[in-house]
Amino acid sequence: MTADELIDLEIKLLMEGIFQVYGYDFREYSEASLRRRLTQWLSGSGYATLSLAQSDLLRDRTLLDSLLRGITVNVSEMFRDPSFFKAIREQVVPFLKTYPFIRIWHAGCATGEEAYSMAILLQEEGLKGRFRIYATDINVEVINKAQQGIYPLQEMQHFTRNYQQSGGTGSFSDYYTARYNHAILSPSLRENIVFAAHNLAVDTDFGEMNLILCRNVMIYFKQPLKERVLGLFDTSLMPGGFLCLGTKESLNHRTISDRYEAIAPRMQIYRKRYAKK
Ligand SMILES: C[S@@+](CC[C@H](N)C(=O)[O-])C[C@H]1O[C@@H](n2cnc3c(N)ncnc32)[C@H](O)[C@@H]1O
Repeated sequence: MTADELIDLEIKLLMEGIFQVYGYDFREYSEASLRRRLTQWLSGSGYATLSLAQSDLLRDRTLLDSLLRGITVNVSEMFRDPSFFKAIREQVVPFLKTYPFIRIWHAGCATGEEAYSMAILLQEEGLKGRFRIYATDINVEVINKAQQGIYPLQEMQHFTRNYQQSGGTGSFSDYYTARYNHAILSPSLRENIVFAAHNLAVDTDFGEMNLILCRNVMIYFKQPLKERVLGLFDTSLMPGGFLCLGTKESLNHRTISDRYEAIAPRMQIYRKRYAKK
């Protein structure tokens, strides 16, 4: 067995152990990204190999949490891909306005920027009080951060630019208060957002959604896990509801694809058909 094959085996054994002990299922994550992230974690961990770390990881929840932080990529930003949010505003919101109440699921919301962006957008479109956002992530630490809605002040310039390019109709600075090096988002934005831990690999669906966003999450998954997650979304989405994926993802060649029509193909925004084809 080569050194590389040995590392692959160690990863496989560790992922199986983590699943058995904690229920976190990384067995269907793409190997290349997992390997890169685990190697990085290992280099700062004090362990020479994953096998040596394994015994402690399976017994010590705090150590496991540090590994989880290393495995999951939590980068996000407000109004990320501004043209995506512009398409939501121009092509999706007119449909949403016809519903008395709108339910939205941000799956893999990381530190919450995407959910707060949606709350701002819907508020500006006159939908205040008519929506609830469920923002979920596998990583409890990022969910706690998301709940606080506090971001480094230095990021606000970039977020403001994104907001303007996305067609924001107000002034972005009205949505936060600067305090020392931080920007504290207006607590009223949080009123309609429920943050919760949810693992797309093992947990069940959320019912009766009108809009689901899962952007830049499934890129780390292997095909069977992608299929599972898309199945979850399909079950959760009302007919006529919208499914949004990241710019590098698509519904092409997926089991559920013929039940959806692409309404903004470059933005990966799909609408669930009313009747099965
Ligand atoms: C790169 S972030 C994407 C954040 C946001 N959607 C965006 O596009 O800006 C990916 C997020 O997916 C989450 N994630 C990874 N595996 C997951 C799983 N099995 N269930 C739920 N969330 C998961 C990670 O914890 C991370 O916060």
